[in-house]
Amino acid sequence: MKVLVATQKPFAAVAVNGIREILEAAGHEVVLLEKYPAQEDLVAAVADAEAMIIRSDKVTSEVIAAAPKLRIVVRAGAGFDNVDLAAASARGIVVMNTPGQNSNAVAELAIAMMIFMARTQFTPATGSEVQGKRLGVQAYGNVGRLVGAKARALGMHISALDPFLTDEQIIAGGADPVHSLEELYASSDYLSIHIPALPATIKSIGYDLITRMPKGATLVNTARKEVLDEDGLMRALEERPDLKYVTDVMPDNYAALQEKFGLRVFATPKKMGAQTSEANINAGLAAARQIVDYFATGNTRFQANK
Ligand code: 3PG
Repeated sequence: MKVLVATQKPFAAVAVNGIREILEAAGHEVVLLEKYPAQEDLVAAVADAEAMIIRSDKVTSEVIAAAPKLRIVVRAGAGFDNVDLAAASARGIVVMNTPGQNSNAVAELAIAMMIFMARTQFTPATGSEVQGKRLGVQAYGNVGRLVGAKARALGMHISALDPFLTDEQIIAGGADPVHSLEELYASSDYLSIHIPALPATIKSIGYDLITRMPKGATLVNTARKEVLDEDGLMRALEERPDLKYVTDVMPDNYAALQEKFGLRVFATPKKMGAQTSEANINAGLAAARQIVDYFATGNTRFQANK
């Protein structure tokens, strides 16, 4: 089978080599499309692809229509909001993710971002310590639990909200269960967002929640920019000069935020939570193995569009 590895933000070379080895050993052919400048390049490249490995690359209905032989798409990572699941399902194309494989990298970045903001972006200004502060974790899944564990080791107190977990499960994960967003935001000196971008979560975090945060609080977003209501964030930061926002998913209004709020906001130029060679290897190789397994045995574990 022809497997297209399409990554606008490429995997580390060591991960690409591993992906190639796994797929070629199983008799598949690998075509690499990295750092492509425009979506048209992806549309053109899928013409004869039977399988795809992607990251945040956009598999739209147009891409699917241009890929008549496509049978499986594996998103090497967690979020699959970049894939048009309905269009894929309509064609019988299996869409999978690789849950958990890049979680540690994202969790480490969330912790690093908290400390970066606590230390005023590493300027000489007097900062603060995270020890003894309360961290709220919004969604206690693969990434959220790792953030909680690392923050506990730093002496932070952890609260978590997760509608899919019982209180007992959250307590077993080392956090105090919280039952509403209002309560979570109101009690968190640091709030780390780990929810997916879904119709119900898009623009769900805005002025009302953000302004509930305690004095001096920091909001950390390593999830998706879409879950934030950017106008609400702007208003909240305007009204509350003590609040800070840090993210690796740059808001569309970042230039305006930076101009107004300086060191109180920070965004990385690219989404970089999962950008470690370890995460690239874990997620990329898992994706390659899932494709080999799907064609060999029909295994659809991790299918997102069942
Ligand atoms: C994910 O959903 O797995 C993360 O957001 C990482 O995305 P990336 O592969 O584009 O870095």
